[in-house]
Amino acid sequence: MRRFQKVLAIETSCDDTSVAVVGHDGRVHSCVMAGQDLYHAKYGGIVPEIASRNHTHHLLPLIQEALDQAGIKLDEVDGFAVTSRPGLIGSLLTGLVTVKTLSVTAGKPFVGVNHLEGHLLAPFLTDAEYAPPQGFDFPYVALAVSGGHTTLYRVDGFGRYKVLGRTLDDAAGEAFDKFAKKIGLGFPGGARVDRLAALGNAARFEFPRAMLKDERDDMSFSGLKTSAARLFDELLDADRETILREAEEFLSTKQAKPGLLADLCASFQEAIVDVLVARLTRAATREKMERVVLTGGVAANSRLRARVVKWAKESGKTAAIPPLRYCTDNAAMVGLAGVIRLNLGETSPISLGPEPKAPLDQEKSPRG
Ligand code: KG4
Ligand code: ZN
Repeated sequence: MRRFQKVLAIETSCDDTSVAVVGHDGRVHSCVMAGQDLYHAKYGGIVPEIASRNHTHHLLPLIQEALDQAGIKLDEVDGFAVTSRPGLIGSLLTGLVTVKTLSVTAGKPFVGVNHLEGHLLAPFLTDAEYAPPQGFDFPYVALAVSGGHTTLYRVDGFGRYKVLGRTLDDAAGEAFDKFAKKIGLGFPGGARVDRLAALGNAARFEFPRAMLKDERDDMSFSGLKTSAARLFDELLDADRETILREAEEFLSTKQAKPGLLADLCASFQEAIVDVLVARLTRAATREKMERVVLTGGVAANSRLRARVVKWAKESGKTAAIPPLRYCTDNAAMVGLAGVIRLNLGETSPISLGPEPKAPLDQEKSPRG
């Protein structure tokens, strides 16, 4: 029997506060979270100081909620896991200090984990509504795509992560967010672009797909962002009234409708999705992988999911795309990475500090 059956995990690397109770087999006994979009929206981006302050407000109630939903008491968890890298330093600190306090109080060990390792392991989580595809296992090619990262990995096993390529400038989620902000949809706007794009004509506007022919697996989205901003300004000059009316209508009614804005969103989204799908599928073929994983907040994008699922079906591959709750930042994925490390004998010292930058390919399994 594994020594660590259940761990309590905390994720506070960016702006979402999340706490989970996770079993050694990836079973999620509970996973609760508090987002902060409302607090950051008016600034058009995440304000680190506001993020850490909110984590301190949210953490204790969420810990209680996660224990209650799992139906256990604090002394029934066998250990703790926390995201200690990479992320915003103040945000990481709130989770770390909390977990250290719990660990000392309960007399159980803790382990600090890399947030990106969590994203890559997310497809292995299970709950009442989600299970990985039949027979899903290592190795696979994974695309972790969110507001902070857009990186393509080859994953050969636990602790065996190789970066194949990454964005050289903006993350894909960042590109979605900046575009949404520019066209008046607010922050974070990726999901709003997705909803409008579903009703738009993706062939109406032409956007660049940077580096598509490049042999490397790297990506670039800043040119796309600039070209979209330029086009939008031109459209505003030509037909300001229509654009402002459509944006206003969408925001006030929360109902997407076809129109200029929807066409613009669809065309922009298609350019990002083309690049992401091309990178993921080319790498899977070249690396002779039977499985691909899509993870991170942008994996919520309906067009991206549909395109990856379609490609997998047509090429006889398996695509594992965790449900949204395990794609966006969540403590369950951190708990899974943590419980595996604890069972392999790794624990962190009380002196463990936060690390704002931490490449995943330097994270090895404690057993080598
Ligand atoms: O993983 P996540 O919750 O947080 C980090 O950035 O780590 O990802 C958030 C990002 C934001 O940029 C948001 O706009 C984007 O994911 N996003 C989407 C969609 N839902 C969330 N982008 C495109 N389409 C969506 N449906
Ligand atoms: Zn993340």
